[in-house]
Amino acid sequence: MLQPSKRVQQTKESYIRNILKVIQQPGMLSLAGGLPDASRFPLAMLEQAAIELAKQPSIYQYGATEGLTELREWLLNHQALAEDVIVTSGSQQALDLIARCYLNPGDRVLCETPSYLGALQIFDLAEAQTLAVRSEQDGPDVDDLEKVLASTPIKLFYAVPDFQNPSGRSWSLSKRKAVAELLAKYKVAFVEDAPYRELRFEGESLPTVTELCAGEAFFLGSFSKIATPSLRVGYVMASKDLLGPLKKVKQASDLHSALPMQKMLLSTVSHPDFTRHLEQLTAHYCLRRDALVAALDKHLAHYLDFEIPQGGMFIWCRLKHHQAYQIAAAALEQKVAVVPGDEFWPAKLKVDYQAIRLNFTSLEPKQLEQAVIGLAKVMQQINT
Ligand SMILES: Cc1ncc(COP(=O)(O)O)c(C=O)c1O
Repeated sequence: MLQPSKRVQQTKESYIRNILKVIQQPGMLSLAGGLPDASRFPLAMLEQAAIELAKQPSIYQYGATEGLTELREWLLNHQALAEDVIVTSGSQQALDLIARCYLNPGDRVLCETPSYLGALQIFDLAEAQTLAVRSEQDGPDVDDLEKVLASTPIKLFYAVPDFQNPSGRSWSLSKRKAVAELLAKYKVAFVEDAPYRELRFEGESLPTVTELCAGEAFFLGSFSKIATPSLRVGYVMASKDLLGPLKKVKQASDLHSALPMQKMLLSTVSHPDFTRHLEQLTAHYCLRRDALVAALDKHLAHYLDFEIPQGGMFIWCRLKHHQAYQIAAAALEQKVAVVPGDEFWPAKLKVDYQAIRLNFTSLEPKQLEQAVIGLAKVMQQINT
């Protein structure tokens, strides 16, 4: 039988994908995925945008690899973070293109622990060596970062400075500045992945690390969490020099992202009602975060510690007494799904502590409490 390449064989499958069938069973309360609340998709704006597509037949023709000109112009006006932009099929594709374009097998990539598992998979597929820097509540441990950068040649530093997946953490301004300085000093390129940046519930918005970087940086944006994920529209901003080779890889990969989706997305995000949609969405998710926090305080304070995120979609819980895989497996039997923290560590590195990631955007407040009660039952049973 035809064998997949070694690259593919050594790349772990996603835990969530593996338990997807179980999660989809009726009655399952899933805190595992990273799904936006479908009842909050901006359907009226999307419907209007879809009707207008028919007035522009050229939208159904092949298009430019770098994306729809109107959308690129809108992005560059809206977020003047870099010289140029390529529209991608979700920010996931931007990550994949960067890895395929810039990483040779064995090159070292640095990330935080825990880190986004979709990025870890991509670095494995690129046969890179993934190293980690310790992460603190307000960003990476800067001393640890300098130690790594001074001792090892690193090609890219990948991070999610706003409401990280899975930890929910955001970097402070001082950490953003310190990291930007260190990256410039050691000439390491930064990959800033920011799909949750606009889901801020409270606190002040901080500058992107890309803005603060004197050296090379890629900024990855996504509309999956603020509009809808299925249009698959994201983007990467950087200098023309950095994006040139990326465009070549995208051309070889898929020629271009679907133009009707780019146009629909542009009509939606530039609609006068979109700002209100975003305000309502963040208020809605804030209530859900509060509901999950209240349920955790009430039912699980004895078993876990957590930080309250100021935005995003996740609460990261450190387990005081339990093993995450054991809890996740037992919880599935109680019809509650969570992701074990181990999944968010690079495969070859030792997991520092036991944790689980909980999503708060896709269940209603009552269901969130029910799920937490289920988890509490599991933890009590395993503890005794
Ligand atoms: C940190 C992070 N980066 C990238 C992505 C991919 O997002 P997109 O839907 O834009 O491809 C996700 C999706 O959950 C994510 O959490």
